[in-house]
Amino acid sequence: MCGIVGYNGEKKAVPILINGLLSLEYRGYDSAGIAVLNNYSKEKKYKLEIVKDKGRVINLKNNEKTKNLIGNIGIAHTRWATHGIPSKENSHPHIDNTVKFAVVHNGIIENYILLRKKLINNGYKLYSETDTEVIPNLISMHYSGDILKAVSDTMKDLKGSYAIEVISEFFPDRIIIAKKDSPLVIGSGEKENYIASDIPAILSYTNKFYFLDDEEIAVVKKDSVEFYDINLSKIQKTTKTIEWDAQSNEKNGYEDFMLKEIYEQPNAVRETIGSRLSLSEKTNLNLEYIDFKKFNRIFIVGCGTAMHAGMAVKPIFEKFCKLPTEIDIASEFRYRNPLIDEHTLCIFISQSGETADTIAALKLAKSLNATTLSIVNVIGSSITRFSDYTIYTHAGPEIAVASTKAYTCQITLLSILAIYISEFLGYDDKNLQSFKASLLKLPEKLKKVLEQSDTIKKYAKKLYNQHDLYFIGRGSDYAVCMEGSLKLKEISYIHSEAYASGELKHGPIALIEKNTTIIGVITDSITAKKTLSNLEESISRGADVLLVTNQNIDNDKIDFTVNIPSTHPLLSPILSMVPLQFFAYYIAKLKNLDVDKPRNLAKSVTVE
Ligand code: G6P
Repeated sequence: MCGIVGYNGEKKAVPILINGLLSLEYRGYDSAGIAVLNNYSKEKKYKLEIVKDKGRVINLKNNEKTKNLIGNIGIAHTRWATHGIPSKENSHPHIDNTVKFAVVHNGIIENYILLRKKLINNGYKLYSETDTEVIPNLISMHYSGDILKAVSDTMKDLKGSYAIEVISEFFPDRIIIAKKDSPLVIGSGEKENYIASDIPAILSYTNKFYFLDDEEIAVVKKDSVEFYDINLSKIQKTTKTIEWDAQSNEKNGYEDFMLKEIYEQPNAVRETIGSRLSLSEKTNLNLEYIDFKKFNRIFIVGCGTAMHAGMAVKPIFEKFCKLPTEIDIASEFRYRNPLIDEHTLCIFISQSGETADTIAALKLAKSLNATTLSIVNVIGSSITRFSDYTIYTHAGPEIAVASTKAYTCQITLLSILAIYISEFLGYDDKNLQSFKASLLKLPEKLKKVLEQSDTIKKYAKKLYNQHDLYFIGRGSDYAVCMEGSLKLKEISYIHSEAYASGELKHGPIALIEKNTTIIGVITDSITAKKTLSNLEESISRGADVLLVTNQNIDNDKIDFTVNIPSTHPLLSPILSMVPLQFFAYYIAKLKNLDVDKPRNLAKSVTVE
């Protein structure tokens, strides 16, 4: 789970590589490094030069030695440690024993111990604890004048996942790249080409992209890109134009990406609805090739926030599609022999489209003949290529590790999908029209919720020193509590737990004492009184309570109430989650933490 960048063109490579790495730090920031082929023009000779160290990209940028990297072709890496501690020795780029091949790698080489033994038996020395170091040495071992063959032979040795870039003094005009199960895109420019783990890292330079598929190789020269399969047969590819705005990759004056992304939600939800939904016409999702009549159950699978979005929409699918709908964590699903056949619809949710467990779950569902449909934000990502069908959330690039706008857009799109299926199956639910109308009004209502930020900031000031917090709610509110608790853990490092309100009596109430804080979410009139009683029970045991609600609750024992607009009860998560996002954000700020890059976490978890 690292980030890689490459540049081959007429400009100095280092500033472009550093910019790309800064944008990819969400993928890890344990160490950073660059390899450049410096051109000593008098002698017409290229020399491979490397600067790397543990710590963040900014250290690499400020390193005096980086200034000596003047070449126009280079590769770079920001690391999230998997094999070996964060240290200079374990930093990328790694080189072979002859110091001719430099490699950066994102992924995990599962058979690296075996490969290390093989190399050592062949007289090679390995200097790091990484799995990656075998790659430049295998390339060197296989190299006898034909770099493509050496790379393809090396790929055949590797088990696991990889996106790699290779440069060498032997071929100073090109970067060789290859991938399997880890992301890699090529940005095409005028007399220059860019490479990166994701689109936003190089979107300010070009909007034309080639997408490399698994077990493919590309030769990236200054003015051309050639593609090959693993057996070195040539492949033709064309570029795709990406319409994202490079500006959307910047902070636009906000202190942090997370805050910017919270504020982008009205627009992101509006874009996700787009022209897909209207009151007068049938819903349009371009899914006419799926015969929804053949399904007798639905699975919705994802990790982290994506899985929580699934929890929030389960009742929507059950109500409007009348199909049993099961939510599963991808890492559980993939190992538990789920009951799936050709009558199962498996929906996978992923912001990045690169989460390793979600990809494995998707592959399992496909192997069992399910129809696979994915809800993804990143265009051209791995999940979109493996799925039978994909529909995109139009949240735009999400940079902060803690997901915010992707979540609200996932629920929005899944709700539209449920409407589409309901219409396809011919159900004439009288509630469907009002559900649609509520959905269309969400962008405006989200704006109203954003106006509450100062109120929440005040309450965050009271709470930021707490060690534990509890979230309680019922139905859709419980799903929101799960996500609210995750947000708080992720960025403020405060321990918190989410409970279905009715479960309070079955254990957690034993933990409630004076000054314990409970956050209650109440948006459904049918269960409002029940959760309110649970809050009262907590208050009588000394708890302080923050309530997020759209109900008319006048209870002076509640310390703080955040009122949000009312909507269809099944859509309330899209509105009630926003105060909890603010809450986690302000607490983390008050604790002086790095909100966008919380410790030990990565934006996209491309390893198991
Ligand atoms: C990581 C991120 C979470 C995200 C989860 C799933 O844990 O930190 O924010 O929800 O992965 O990611 P995906 O890209 O599949 O939605």
